[in-house]
Amino acid sequence: MDTGCKGYEARNGSYWKNIVVVKMKFELPKLPYDYNALEPYIDEQTMRIHHGKHHQAYADKFNTALEGHDDVKNKSAEEIIQNLNTVPETIRTAVRNFGGGYINHNFFWPVMKNDNQQPDGEIAEAIAKKFGNFEKFKETFSNSAASLFGSGWTWLVFNGEYLEILNLPNQDSPLTIGKTPLLAIDVWEHAYYLKYQNRRADYINAFMNIINWQQVEKLYKNTQ
Ligand SMILES: [Fe+2]
Repeated sequence: MDTGCKGYEARNGSYWKNIVVVKMKFELPKLPYDYNALEPYIDEQTMRIHHGKHHQAYADKFNTALEGHDDVKNKSAEEIIQNLNTVPETIRTAVRNFGGGYINHNFFWPVMKNDNQQPDGEIAEAIAKKFGNFEKFKETFSNSAASLFGSGWTWLVFNGEYLEILNLPNQDSPLTIGKTPLLAIDVWEHAYYLKYQNRRADYINAFMNIINWQQVEKLYKNTQ
């Protein structure tokens, strides 16, 4: 996954010995569509604030947390979150929250597309195998998202053997517990409150219309 972070790799050879390693900051990725592209399911203003303010803030605070920690910074954001237990304790909570928020939103934008897609191919087979059929999957995923207490995300993951739906609090990532994310819905209030207020169930129903199943299938195929 492109984290938007570019840098220069350090080499061990003598020629490279004195080159200063420059690691730029983790940057906010561009949305893969216009801010109004998910209307009427997710409104333009929500998308502008969610991406431009919330996601930007996660990126900024993640970068701040990593200042002075070049050893950590020189990994991809996903690798950092995957190996959270190796992050120095002094910054681990900040990295978990802000780094998690950064990569979760990086992941989130491309799994949505206003294209009225249905799952197809291998992911459709895996869904049928685990949940019986697509309608059952939608019901289980929606109920899980509706029941998440407080702020967090509902995930469809591959656990190495089969698909699973799980709720994780705050900005925790399935990567930290060794699972590969395939789909996610952000159920923080900032993701839906402007349009749906307290009607989280309506937001979840709307989200079901804008899942980019091609992207989910691509992520699933990468695990096989
Ligand atoms: Fe969010």
